[in-house]
Amino acid sequence: MNLLIKGGRVVDPANNMDQVADIYITNGKIASVGAQIDVSRHDCEVIDAQGKWVFPGFIDMHVHLREPGYEAKETIATGTRAAARGGFTSVACMPNTNPVIDNRALVEFVKAKALAEGVVHVFPIGAITKGSRGEELAEIGDMYQAGAVAISDDGQPVANAQLMRLAMQYAMMFDIPIISHCEDKQLVADGVMNEGYCSTLFGLRGITRAAEEIMVARDILLAEVTGAKLHIAHVSTRGSVELVRMAKKKGLRVTAEATPHHFTLTEEAVGNYDTSTKVNPPLRSAEDVQAVKEGLKDGTIDIIATDHAPHTVEEKDVEYNYAPFGMIGLETAWGLIYEELVEKGILDLKEAVAKLTVRPAAIFGLQGKGSLTVGYDGDITIIDPALEETVNPDNFASKARNSAFIGRRLKALPVYTIVQGKIVMNNRILQKEDKL
Ligand code: DOR
Repeated sequence: MNLLIKGGRVVDPANNMDQVADIYITNGKIASVGAQIDVSRHDCEVIDAQGKWVFPGFIDMHVHLREPGYEAKETIATGTRAAARGGFTSVACMPNTNPVIDNRALVEFVKAKALAEGVVHVFPIGAITKGSRGEELAEIGDMYQAGAVAISDDGQPVANAQLMRLAMQYAMMFDIPIISHCEDKQLVADGVMNEGYCSTLFGLRGITRAAEEIMVARDILLAEVTGAKLHIAHVSTRGSVELVRMAKKKGLRVTAEATPHHFTLTEEAVGNYDTSTKVNPPLRSAEDVQAVKEGLKDGTIDIIATDHAPHTVEEKDVEYNYAPFGMIGLETAWGLIYEELVEKGILDLKEAVAKLTVRPAAIFGLQGKGSLTVGYDGDITIIDPALEETVNPDNFASKARNSAFIGRRLKALPVYTIVQGKIVMNNRILQKEDKL
């Protein structure tokens, strides 16, 4: 089926485009972008996009789909539907599953499941070390050949600096980034929120910023020694932003991401003891939030990623100290980006879209993705700037409910998600015919 998207405001940062235009998609690829495309002789579905914003499909490089092993939290089927509902056409999934995605067979499993049951593109991230135990390297070359786009031990950061150095040297052979979840586990100890006045006030154990920054500094130094591509996950402190800024000034191949919750919420949100606010790294102070926003503005932070971390209601419905870390994010990300960054004048629309499209595609080498260039995949996100909605967990496509944004009014919501020319979400509703 061919698809014509007519009369929308098309914003395509890679091609420096922001104008009213039509987009024609055929055989799942972008066939043309321009004024008044006439396809009257072709069999063609038409979307009237007048008054809407039309973007390259959003890409989220930090998502937990939980399969295999933790299907009670999320599955590839439900997680990709949550992505589609949030306007994402591609996600990269973290390997902290059970078993850990540390070999070719598991990368192939995720890809096959995504093809069979997913509704958006899924790019697996392989583990750095076997079982993410931090003892010996995983089969990185094999995973790369099977389709892994990066390697990471995510929530179990490699403590041994020599092993991390070897991993970087190894990853360079395939030119893939190492994603570092920067955390010194000894320093974190049994902390549950940011260390400071609020943690004292709330009677909760704190996590010092240094636990993050020590690892950011170490990994930047190792990236300098090796020349590897290093991507810092979920930057949350002023110090981390400054370290990444310095690394970029030196010309190192260091990139970084920020999550919507880290630039929207402060540690004060923990005061109601809602366990959805328990995330790793923790929500920080207003000063840190400001620094993350400055980092997004000046390009120190290249991309926005959600760290969508689903957990079951039972796991989260416990005392703050006992809840697992993590918050879902796919279905609320764009509304928060729009309100916190675009409306507040931190990023203009094109810059915000770039951080969800062309930048992640470039950093992770995603071919045919991230822009509306002719011949690229027909992946499109359409936003209705006039549409507002209150976040309601009953509407989540995710299995999980651990969002700190329930009840918040969001505006400028995604109304179409189109993957390879196929409409997977229309008017906030996922489509029935559900395979890619
Ligand atoms: O809050 C988090 N949850 N941060 C992480 O890095 C891991 C994630 C998870 O897997 O639940």
